[in-house]
Amino acid sequence: MKLSSGLFGIAISMAATLVKADSWGSAWSLGPTHNGAAVVKATTHFQPGAAPTPNEDILALWIGISNATSGLIQAGCDNVANMAGYCGAAANQWCCGASYFGFQNGVLGQWSGKFVPTECTDTITIDYTLQSDQRTWVHTVSKNGAVISTLQTFDGPLLQGGFGTGTECNANCGGSVSTQTYTNTTIVLSTADPLFSSTLGVGAGVQASQLTTADSGKTWTVASIKIPPMTINSNLGPNTGKPAVCGATTTPPATTTTRTTTGTGSGSTGCTSPEFAQCGGSGFTGCTVCASPFTCEFSNDFYSQCL
Ligand SMILES: *[C@@H]1O[C@H](CO)[C@@H](O)[C@H](O)[C@H]1NC(C)=O
Ligand SMILES: *[C@@H]1O[C@H](CO)[C@@H](O)[C@H](O)[C@H]1NC(C)=O
Repeated sequence: MKLSSGLFGIAISMAATLVKADSWGSAWSLGPTHNGAAVVKATTHFQPGAAPTPNEDILALWIGISNATSGLIQAGCDNVANMAGYCGAAANQWCCGASYFGFQNGVLGQWSGKFVPTECTDTITIDYTLQSDQRTWVHTVSKNGAVISTLQTFDGPLLQGGFGTGTECNANCGGSVSTQTYTNTTIVLSTADPLFSSTLGVGAGVQASQLTTADSGKTWTVASIKIPPMTINSNLGPNTGKPAVCGATTTPPATTTTRTTTGTGSGSTGCTSPEFAQCGGSGFTGCTVCASPFTCEFSNDFYSQCL
């Protein structure tokens, strides 16, 4: 499989230094490009499937592009133990948004746009486009057609670049419990690389349509990629997460508070929010009072939490 040996090798090994142990599910990947062709754009529509519950840290589902010396552009959806603290989501939702592992202003790290609560039935559209300055990448993540998260990074055209899915488990993650679906995926190169399809790596259990090109190798499309659930032995036992029913109605955690933070929270009265619940942030209209002894701590413009 190309994922570990080729394009993502460097980015993944950099990422691995930040966490104790990563386990990887099956992947669909392409790369590296040949003949001076660079990856300059990629687009897909993603459905993460039902989230594992109870949640365990950290399941990250993403689709990325990189080359061996660039950062890893990797928007997607995460599921963790504390979903309320992570993005204000309920336990059986996902937190989805733009993310990048690499250097920004000389600092190596995981850089992210806003992460937003997402249902298993939502469609997350991910677009990475190299701008005409041949340096800036604009990452745009939308949910059901509306933009929810953006990020800019500066790796330029990804020479000898590639593209692939990631089903990544850190720490006590118990794996994924649903098939993850990528629809109408398009990868655009700077010039034609007729041999790009020969680099395709398809992991065990992955079901994908044929990779096709209508312009002799500059634009590549695949109608459907289905990544199977990932079963691993975590500290919590083999795949302890049980699938929630995808499509079941979910409600965000009840919220409340004592301290007002930035944002437009209406601060309902007579309510209290438990530890880790959201209590403020732009667009937040829930309760802004935290149950004693917790206080509403500012995290960012979009999120305050009872801690
Ligand atoms: C990755 O792309 C950058 C930007 O174009 C380029 O400078 C670098 O040489 C590429 N790395 C490889 C291994 O080709
Ligand atoms: C994928 O493309 C087909 C054909 O153009 C279209 O009918 C369908 O709505 C697309 N699906 C998504 C999720 O964009």
